[in-house]
Amino acid sequence: MVIALGDDQTQMKVLIVGNGGVSKGFQKVFAEQSVSFDIYHRSIGDLYEMPQKIKTQYDLIIYAVGNIVWKPVRNNTAQDIEEIFKPNAFGFFVLAQMLPQVLKHKGKVVILGANMQRITSPFLSLYAASKSALKAFVEVAKREMRRYSFYLLEPEEIDTPIWKKVPVDPQNPKSPEDFARETLDIIGFTLTH
Ligand SMILES: NC(=O)c1ccc[n+]([C@@H]2O[C@H](COP(=O)([O-])OP(=O)(O)OC[C@H]3O[C@@H](n4cnc5c(N)ncnc54)[C@H](OP(=O)(O)O)[C@@H]3O)[C@@H](O)[C@H]2O)c1
Repeated sequence: MVIALGDDQTQMKVLIVGNGGVSKGFQKVFAEQSVSFDIYHRSIGDLYEMPQKIKTQYDLIIYAVGNIVWKPVRNNTAQDIEEIFKPNAFGFFVLAQMLPQVLKHKGKVVILGANMQRITSPFLSLYAASKSALKAFVEVAKREMRRYSFYLLEPEEIDTPIWKKVPVDPQNPKSPEDFARETLDIIGFTLTH
């Protein structure tokens, strides 16, 4: 039986891909709400190994991995391209092709994109390109797989370690917990306290 959000949410099966700042925000809020969750992170397997490693069917999957590099276009290396596109786009492409195995009928998928106006600035070519590819992919996936609900979030600033990789500071970042609460509200999860 599929447990829709709004029914007994504590029985929901949740998978969070990634264990960084955004993921920890969700983890904290789920713990407060007595919702248990699984985390897929590097110690469990590479992103490309998800089809072999994930054995459960979930009600909600949160794709919260990502990477950023701050470089002029001429300095981007092949390694940079792989290290940015893999978590920001390719990992989700792999997850999407296995959704029928790992997401229940009418399940929900939350995906961390980024605000395109904000990121198409100098030195973020790979980050912007990878998030743009992700956005296009999700648009198509939504049309093909109508039994699922896809939520591509495009936040501006969340206070997480990713900012240590760029030489600018966020101006007015949200806490990861507030971001998680807002997201859960958007997808119809009722917070009990
Ligand atoms: N923070 C913001 O202001 C903000 C704004 C817009 C969008 N976002 C998006 O939110 C998502 C989560 O970012 P965050 O803010 O939580 O950053 P974060 O704290 O740096 O977390 C990123 C996570 O991605 C994982 N990761 C990176 N490359 C990976 C790879 N090749 N394979 C497996 N895992 C990999 C990291 O694992 P390791 O720690 O092991 O490297 C870490 O768990 C990203 O997609 C980011 O673009 C964030």
